[in-house]
Amino acid sequence: MTHELLIRIDKKLATSFTRQIYEQILQSITSGCLRIGDPIPSTRLMAEKIQVSRSVILQAYEQLQAEGYLEMRRGAGTFIAANAAVIDTDLFYSEANIDNELMVNVPNFKSVENNPLSRNVNSHATILYDFRHGIPAWDTFPMDRWQRALTEACRRATPEMLTYGSAEGSLALREEIARLVRSTRSIPASAEQIVITSGATQALDILARLCLKDGEQVIVENPTHNVLREIFRFSGGEVIPVRVDEDGICVHEINQSIAIHSKEADSHPKLIYVTPSHQFPVGVTMSFNRRIELLDWARRTGAFIIEDDYDSEYRYVGPKVSALAGLDSSGRVIYVGSFSKILFPALRIGYAILPYVLLKPFLAIKWITDRMSPTLEQEALADFIQSGQYAKHVSYMSKLYASRRACLVNALDQEFGDRVHYFGDEAGLHLLIELDTSVNEELIAKKAMQYGTQIYPASDYYIDSQPSKATFLLGYANLSKSQIRAGIKLVARAEQECKE
Ligand SMILES: Cc1ncc(COP(=O)(O)O)c(C=O)c1O
Repeated sequence: MTHELLIRIDKKLATSFTRQIYEQILQSITSGCLRIGDPIPSTRLMAEKIQVSRSVILQAYEQLQAEGYLEMRRGAGTFIAANAAVIDTDLFYSEANIDNELMVNVPNFKSVENNPLSRNVNSHATILYDFRHGIPAWDTFPMDRWQRALTEACRRATPEMLTYGSAEGSLALREEIARLVRSTRSIPASAEQIVITSGATQALDILARLCLKDGEQVIVENPTHNVLREIFRFSGGEVIPVRVDEDGICVHEINQSIAIHSKEADSHPKLIYVTPSHQFPVGVTMSFNRRIELLDWARRTGAFIIEDDYDSEYRYVGPKVSALAGLDSSGRVIYVGSFSKILFPALRIGYAILPYVLLKPFLAIKWITDRMSPTLEQEALADFIQSGQYAKHVSYMSKLYASRRACLVNALDQEFGDRVHYFGDEAGLHLLIELDTSVNEELIAKKAMQYGTQIYPASDYYIDSQPSKATFLLGYANLSKSQIRAGIKLVARAEQECKE
């Protein structure tokens, strides 16, 4: 695409027109707006656009050419020359250019995957086996079916579908989701209670903006997702961590945790954020008694429960458990779902099922901050679910992931024997493992990286306390069995070499 070159001629200046054009093009090159190889307009077009004679433009171009900035190719046009001294825009991103005052509020996540500032970290290392969590398998995604659904949505698009629509999202998709959660999660939801969001992440952000004012408390599981918990802090909430045991969050310890962690002596939590189906990252399923205890606590305190059901579709052991929202008779549970794990994260479609009292204010924040989520993808997704493709995909992937999970457990057993302990292997797309070793988890991860294997230390997920052993979160969904075996072998080799 030819660069537009927005040149402004000031007739009042003493500087000649040629010089003004020369200087403005040079400025565009040194600022990085024009890059090596970019085509610029012909002298004829330029002359018409800025209303000066063609010879004036030609003189400016010729001077830039003589100085090595421009290259005129006969019959092809004028381009920024290959040896033009173009600035390195990556310099803008260097540590030296990060404003430390602006960074005060931004956490510096340790784990590479979650660190927005680690853009270039490991860019030279080749990753052969990436055990990143939460990434579904790409190779088995029915892209042709998805493409068909998208094409069909484009074909059916009406002017109404292409303009600003409603903040709650496509009715067709909300109806499909309502049907889905009624049958697979036992939630008696209707489409009016559902708002489509940009992933579960945006649903959490809107809820934080809505429910947390300066310093108000939100209870989170400890450990919990390190990025998602920051959403609450950014909205000014006070994050109170509460321990997780084999039954889920320790509801009976909430008051004690508030007393330990809160700045306020007299406090009333507004939100509690939990992952009952498959606790993130430990993986336990919240027991029935603990669910009842939690609902009771919410009723007594007036807090809302956010149930993040991010990967409940994949359960390998025992029957599927119904959602916490299905047990709620007093309108305290906000159910948050996502299509990131079943389809793909870049789709950015999630949803919240809201108690009626929260619906209007939630929609107002969605409208103010984002207007609405992209309509055509929502229509395509509705079609994908309605046609049965979605259920077929979940069923196929469940079997595939179960076999990959078994392979990972097997490989870990083979390499580490009784030195490895895993948690959360009944569901989801990841395992949390603890390793009996004298070596620090960061060192093992660094060494494994040298062998092209990326594993993720889990200590970042713990608030205030650290696990006593080397702990890793291993995603396995997007690795074949042979990749899983080869990767774990290299992790064992890395750990062994760190010890020597
Ligand atoms: C605990 C948890 N909740 C939700 C999500 C999904 O977020 P989103 O729907 O914004 O992609 C993830 C993704 O990894 C997650 O780990």
